[in-house]
Amino acid sequence: MYNAKILIDRLAADHTLAADEYLYILSNTDAQTLAYINNVAAEVCASVFHKSIYIRGLIEIGNVCRNDCLYCGIRHSNSHVERYRLNRDDILAACGEGYALGLRTFVLQGGEEGGKASDDFITGVVREVKELYPDAAVTLSLGEKDTDTYRRFREAGADRYLLRHETFNAAHYSSLHPASMSRDNRLRCLADLKRLGFQTGTGIMVGSPGQTAAHIVEDILFIGRLRPEMIGIGPFIPHRDTPFGTCRAGSLEQTLLLLSIFRLMFPHALIPSTTALATLSPGGREAGILAGANVVMPNLSPASVRRKYNLYNGKACTGSESVEGLKSLEESFRAIGYKIDFGRGDYAG
Ligand code: 5AD
Repeated sequence: MYNAKILIDRLAADHTLAADEYLYILSNTDAQTLAYINNVAAEVCASVFHKSIYIRGLIEIGNVCRNDCLYCGIRHSNSHVERYRLNRDDILAACGEGYALGLRTFVLQGGEEGGKASDDFITGVVREVKELYPDAAVTLSLGEKDTDTYRRFREAGADRYLLRHETFNAAHYSSLHPASMSRDNRLRCLADLKRLGFQTGTGIMVGSPGQTAAHIVEDILFIGRLRPEMIGIGPFIPHRDTPFGTCRAGSLEQTLLLLSIFRLMFPHALIPSTTALATLSPGGREAGILAGANVVMPNLSPASVRRKYNLYNGKACTGSESVEGLKSLEESFRAIGYKIDFGRGDYAG
């Protein structure tokens, strides 16, 4: 029989466990064990990042999407969404505002658009942002593209790319996504991004409909093999206009447990305390940091579009979730003994 604390100590020392051991931790963590792993992970994180949190300006560049992911509020078939696209000037203005506030990473996130025109637009914008702000990093989060498009994004100067795999299990993947999408193409994208030299982020939603502990073990083993520089872990939160609108949200505890497991596997990884976590529970953002996260991504989108980028109900996008709230964000960090690091915050493993 296993003992969770002994397994946690071994994970901290070796950065890996066997599949059955991860399964044991996932299935047998009580409040006390959770507090223990959160503390160990926060200590490991502090030993690498010295209680400094990187901040990234998140610009939601558009909510037009060709996909129909069953969990997502901006899915193609949701006719209640007011669709928008930011233009070049909007995006550069948002970067300028963020730069003046001291931000040195801009994350351009949006619905997945197909077609050359959209890809060319992104390539041009990335080039301009990098010309205007050569000391800032550009992260893209725009979904699945062909290899050549990713290469063009990289050549234009994009430094990082976020693409959660959502779930490694192919059957579970199919139950969350339309038939036009496949787990294998997702993995192809991630392999491309790594090979092209992007600092690559992947991750999962915790508690998505149909997810089991065995699925999560598959996710952990996959992430262990991929060795992403960034790992995004947030709870699933239902959106009323989706097929999963009446499903239960993922749990705070399981999200915090997974944040800590990934921190212990990858002491140098860039792991955000996500907006979904902050939305799920008051104090969620701080709890994520105290479980081993070292990044937050305040919203830098123009105020007029924020409510239109609604991936799930209740999404936080004001206060400390926004760049206007940097002061209150700083204050909330100080209250738990952390501070903002205004650097680019590249992966340095
Ligand atoms: N709940 C939580 N996270 C969601 N995402 C999309 N829809 C939801 C939801 N309903 C996450 C996905 C995606 C990221 C941009 O947002 O994991 O990769």
